[in-house]
Amino acid sequence: MSSNALLSLSKTNKVSEQNKFVAAQPMPTIDIENRRYIGSKAKLLDWIFDHIKKECKGNSFADIFAGTGVVSARAARSFNKIILNDILHSNFASYQGFFAQEKYDREKIFNFVAHYNSLDAKDIKHTFFSKAFGGKYFNVPAAKLIGYIREDLNKRKSELNNKEYHILLTSLLYSADKIANTVGHYEAYFKKSISDRKFIFRLIEPLIKAGRVSIHREDANELAKSLKADIVYIDPPYNSRQYSRFYHVLETLALWDNPKLFGVALKRPEENMSEYCRNNAVNAFADLIGKLNAKYIVVSYNNTYNSKSSSSRNKIELEDIKSILTSKGKTKIFKKSHQFFNAGKTDFNDHQEWLFITEVL
Ligand SMILES: C[S@@+](CC[C@H](N)C(=O)[O-])C[C@H]1O[C@@H](n2cnc3c(N)ncnc32)[C@H](O)[C@@H]1O
Repeated sequence: MSSNALLSLSKTNKVSEQNKFVAAQPMPTIDIENRRYIGSKAKLLDWIFDHIKKECKGNSFADIFAGTGVVSARAARSFNKIILNDILHSNFASYQGFFAQEKYDREKIFNFVAHYNSLDAKDIKHTFFSKAFGGKYFNVPAAKLIGYIREDLNKRKSELNNKEYHILLTSLLYSADKIANTVGHYEAYFKKSISDRKFIFRLIEPLIKAGRVSIHREDANELAKSLKADIVYIDPPYNSRQYSRFYHVLETLALWDNPKLFGVALKRPEENMSEYCRNNAVNAFADLIGKLNAKYIVVSYNNTYNSKSSSSRNKIELEDIKSILTSKGKTKIFKKSHQFFNAGKTDFNDHQEWLFITEVL
């Protein structure tokens, strides 16, 4: 997290009377890596890119199960063209906030942030969001603020260009996630008191990048039909835990569609269920690799199949990955011990991370 972005805004822009108070104080902003996300590669980036730099050549990099987008953010340092894709609406929104190349008015954004941080939950009305999730995933004042801000963004969308809108929406997604009363996903919330988790609207730090960026929300196997990139990075889910179910509250916040909610976890109706979390995962992976038009295919894999919990057991085994990739080209395999974020449920004694790099023949 960096703490000087709003300060630097106050130095470089004329700040209106209304914002003097906020502009005078440094306020923490949020980097793309500053998010709890199952399977995030944030801590493995150096290792992954050391190998990519040694083994691969090219100008374009596609990250087709991009999750948080941290891999693309690192790739953007050295590749001219970045392609991001994920099936989740909340991830699609955040790629537009962090990566889209459209110009934006920093002072305008700053005014929105100042307004949102001046709000008092006592003065604002409930939305469907606070009625459903208040006192559960968030304390009631926080849920009221989050709902009010999301509604306000919808109402004032015409004042913002696409980049500005998504910077603010992504900031809301990250700020809400930061204080959520969970272990890091929305499968359940803690029953203990959450009254001290104050909501602060933190601004994200969009990436400064000169090259071209293309952003998609598609099933990776569909995208693969038209995709062309020098390097394609693949990091799918490997067990039965569906990301669209884990991050349902963020999906609802991104879509703002007042869905019917089900069960104790208050989940929205099913959408974007991944074949990679089902028994058909090996076929989906083989189909994907078969379709890809790339010079190099880089695949991340980890050994959660040793896990005691059946939902954490891998749907694709190491040998399947090896044989499918070997049929596509010359494949090298790298391995590393790694303790990853798994939300505390499953006990991994010997967690291994693999990286496969295939030079397509
Ligand atoms: C292991 S995570 C990727 C983590 C990412 N590399 C990072 O560092 O944040 C897998 C991602 O694949 C997405 N996903 C699952 N099935 C998909 C599919 N069929 N097509 C596109 N994305 C999919 C999930 O929404 C999830 O964000």
